[in-house]
Amino acid sequence: MTNLAYDSPVDGEPAEQEVAAMQALRPVPRISVQAFCETDGVAQPIERAGEDRRMSKAHLKVHMGGVATAIEFYQSAPTPNLIVLESRSEPRQLLEQLGQLAEYCDPSTKVVVIGHYNDVGLYRELIRSGISEYVVAPISMADVVSVISTIFVDPDADPIGRSIAFVGAKGGVGSSTIAHNVAWAMSTLFNSEVVVADLDLAFGTANINFDQDPAQGIAEAVFSPERIDEVYLDRLLAQCSEHLSLLSAPSTLERVYDFDADAFTQIIDTAQRSAPLLVLDVPHIWTGWTKATLMKADEIVITATPELANLRNTKNLVDMLKRLRPNDAPPKLIINQTGVPKRPEIASSDFSEPLGITPMAMIPFDPALFGNATNNGRMLGEMDAAHSVVHTINEMAHILTGRSEIKAKKKAGLGDILGKLKLKKN
Ligand SMILES: Nc1ncnc2c1ncn2[C@@H]1O[C@H](COP(=O)(O)OP(=O)(O)O)[C@@H](O)[C@H]1O
Ligand SMILES: [Mg+2]
Repeated sequence: MTNLAYDSPVDGEPAEQEVAAMQALRPVPRISVQAFCETDGVAQPIERAGEDRRMSKAHLKVHMGGVATAIEFYQSAPTPNLIVLESRSEPRQLLEQLGQLAEYCDPSTKVVVIGHYNDVGLYRELIRSGISEYVVAPISMADVVSVISTIFVDPDADPIGRSIAFVGAKGGVGSSTIAHNVAWAMSTLFNSEVVVADLDLAFGTANINFDQDPAQGIAEAVFSPERIDEVYLDRLLAQCSEHLSLLSAPSTLERVYDFDADAFTQIIDTAQRSAPLLVLDVPHIWTGWTKATLMKADEIVITATPELANLRNTKNLVDMLKRLRPNDAPPKLIINQTGVPKRPEIASSDFSEPLGITPMAMIPFDPALFGNATNNGRMLGEMDAAHSVVHTINEMAHILTGRSEIKAKKKAGLGDILGKLKLKKN
């Protein structure tokens, strides 16, 4: 609860002390920050912090208006990685307002409060209720960067990134395509930075799907693990859209790709320190490094098509992962390419029953939609945002970021049938 606000000797020039304080701070990762300020005295150092080089990867926006404005704002907008709130309210009222805001806050969102009461009781109460830090105004630019660093950069802090590994139960089932589209959905729906890593070095398609041809990518990192840090990683990332960057595979056969089991550990750890979401596109092979990568992922998504070999492989994967990760939830399941004309298929209930997993999504076979997207290097959501498959992709983005839960698909009830009849009549 210290404050270090400095007086500037010349207007707009940072004081010597401030330069020294800033010197000690590390760059902040790709997080989104939104501040709600009641006074210029607090808004200004936050704005200046946002322009500092250490914050160049973060997205920061300052709004005027305090907690009440934030509550109104987040009723219709997703919450960022960090919310900074200035409040002049007295402690009891502040706690009450924060309680209201909590209803609209994503569980992973961190909150920092800048208050005007130097009150230890309030500080304790706020920390107990999950607020990351309470700072007393006035504040300096260095205070702002320092507080953000403590939460997101500190080596003792948890890595900010969640890793989600996508793997197919067979080759060609659509695992990569779905991984890329879910990643894109997460980056656009939640304005959250997403890094996609294409681990299929020989045949990866992320570069085609995102229409990218970067000179460097994941191969540089995996062949020189000693060089990997956040700065080096940055150079290897290709920016695909505002909030999505790609560690692309070379997709060439000049080299062979026989890796040690922990070949990707360093790059995955570094990526997880640099962005809140990491999507791993894992090829359909069973090697030391694919096993190790799946074992360590925060979340695993298996894509399968509704036929027998897929079911057997999925069952083996699910059983093996349960043994490797006894204290984790089972992987999520996507049944893809349902309803291929004339192809006999296993019903979804028969498919999921032996696995004991309710599918997170079922995606119909739709060659026109998928084919056009691939051929144009566009995401499905860019081709046809209103398509039902795009809705399903968006739903998965919500589920995988903990924003909603898997709903068991209802059997068509009388209501649905009546609904369909009505549609036909019109
Ligand atoms: N639901 C679907 N309907 C039609 N084509 C699909 C569907 N899902 C994926 N595809 C297509 O299948 C092909 C293989 O997909 P890909 O993502 O490369 O598979 P994997 O990564 O599992 O090997 C791609 O051409 C993709 O566009
Ligand atoms: Mg693939």
